[in-house]
Amino acid sequence: MCGIIGYSGYREASAILVESLKKLEYRGYDSAGIAVADGDIKVEKKRGYVSSLRGNLEGHTGIGHTRWATHGEPSDKNSHPFTGCTGEFAIVHNGIIENYMRLKEELTEKGHRYESDTDSEAIVHILEDEYKSSGDFKKAFLNTIKKLEGSFAIVAIHRGEDRIFGVKKESPLIAGMGDGENFLGSDIPAFLSYTNRVVIMEDGDVCELTPESLTFYDFEGKKKEKKGEYVNWTPESAEKSGYEHFMLKEIFEQPIAMESTIHSLFSADTDFPYYGRITIVACGTSYNAGMAGKYLIEKILGIPVDIYYASEYRLRPEVRERSLVVFITQSGETADTLTAAKIARKRGYKTVGITNVLGSSITHYVDNVIYTSAGPEIGVAATKTFTAQLASLYYMGLSMGEEYGILPQMKFEEFIEGFRRIPRLIEKALDYEENIKKIAHKISDEENMFYLGRGLNYPIAMEGALKMKEISYIHAEAYPAGELKHGPLALVRKGIPVVAIVTKDETYDKMISNLREVSARKAMVIAISSEREVDNYVDYRIPVPQNGSLFSPFANTVAVQLLAYHTAKLRGCAIDKPRNLAKSVTVE
Ligand code: F6R
Repeated sequence: MCGIIGYSGYREASAILVESLKKLEYRGYDSAGIAVADGDIKVEKKRGYVSSLRGNLEGHTGIGHTRWATHGEPSDKNSHPFTGCTGEFAIVHNGIIENYMRLKEELTEKGHRYESDTDSEAIVHILEDEYKSSGDFKKAFLNTIKKLEGSFAIVAIHRGEDRIFGVKKESPLIAGMGDGENFLGSDIPAFLSYTNRVVIMEDGDVCELTPESLTFYDFEGKKKEKKGEYVNWTPESAEKSGYEHFMLKEIFEQPIAMESTIHSLFSADTDFPYYGRITIVACGTSYNAGMAGKYLIEKILGIPVDIYYASEYRLRPEVRERSLVVFITQSGETADTLTAAKIARKRGYKTVGITNVLGSSITHYVDNVIYTSAGPEIGVAATKTFTAQLASLYYMGLSMGEEYGILPQMKFEEFIEGFRRIPRLIEKALDYEENIKKIAHKISDEENMFYLGRGLNYPIAMEGALKMKEISYIHAEAYPAGELKHGPLALVRKGIPVVAIVTKDETYDKMISNLREVSARKAMVIAISSEREVDNYVDYRIPVPQNGSLFSPFANTVAVQLLAYHTAKLRGCAIDKPRNLAKSVTVE
């Protein structure tokens, strides 16, 4: 769960590597490093952010890495790149080498000296041995990767050569095609300032990169034909564009992200096989989107929807049912979700993947892909991809309803109209930022909070609590409001902030009772509600327009996102890089 980059071309590599690593820092930020290969290999690496690198090594071919520690604590010595015993190669790695213990034993027996505690270092020592016997970089690289078990994206350079070798197996790696320069990176934004022409690598692809060419092979060295394609992301979409944080920029990008997602959903016109049952599998924020999808689809289609955390789905025994299994993952690289998708496929289920990243791993494991078109999301806390996932699930419900004639609860045209109004609804909700900022001042010194919702908005309460926890480090718990009296109410005391989502639908009266319950215990009650009447029961109200029940989650999401953002800002937190977290969680 790290970011890697490789560059060979006519420009100085160091500056490009450092710039690219900054774009990849959302993937991990414990330590960073670069190496260049012209003449002897030179390395600069250290614990800390990419900005601590000077980036002034001379040379035109190089690699870089930004780390999220798994094997070995964050430290200078555990930072990548690794150069082994002879210093003639340098490698960077993203993923997990599962047989690293055995490899380490074998290598140290042969006399190799390790400088780090990582699983990755084995790669460079094997490469040295293989080069000793073959004298050829390509052969040595192919022989090396065959000895590795686990998941890996690796990029390697050799002293005095302008060639780079890269490999992808269950960790992301994408090639960028420039003019007199080429790139390999964990993600497209890494090289988007230089080119938007990419080659999506698949598991088992090896890439030989020079300034003029990109050649692809399989693990046996047999050539593979691969085509380049243009992505419509702009470099600006991966920059902060004047916003203080990526997260804030991405919250404000939601109307546009919605427009393009809705447009691409209608243009793609995906078919959804009908099984009369749906199972949703995801992690974190994507799970929360899935939960809203469950409420929505059950409500409008009247068919049962089960939902599982991906890490739990894999433990589920095989059951006799016919179900369409939907995997939601913005990155398309979350290890738990990928494993669950492999299991579902093995069991013969029909599968759909919802992802924001073109050609990401999940797209290879499912029968049908729905792309959200939210643009690159750099802030570690997911925002615009969450609402884009929600929109995709709404669309799925809509098109299944239309195709199978099962929209019992409402008129198709009404739904379409509401759906098309989502960008505008979000835009209006964003106007309440100042109001939300004031409320953030009231809660920023607190250490515990509750979020309450019912029905379709319970998942939005879950998402609000998750956002608050991960970026402000306030302990926040979400409950379906009716559950409060079954235990958690014992924790409600004077002054504790309780955020309640109150919409004018079948849950309204019950939510009002819950507001009374918590205000009777003198909690600080903050309602997200367009209903004036609610003022009678709460301390503060965020009056985002909710436009009725069905589409209210979109407006309510904006409110909980901005509340978390401004609270975290007041607490001085590292909003785009919360502690211990990374954007793509490629370990199980
Ligand atoms: C929270 C967050 C995480 C991710 C989770 C799954 O803001 O971003 O909870 O949602 O790690 O990631 P994806 O969607 O990439 O599978």
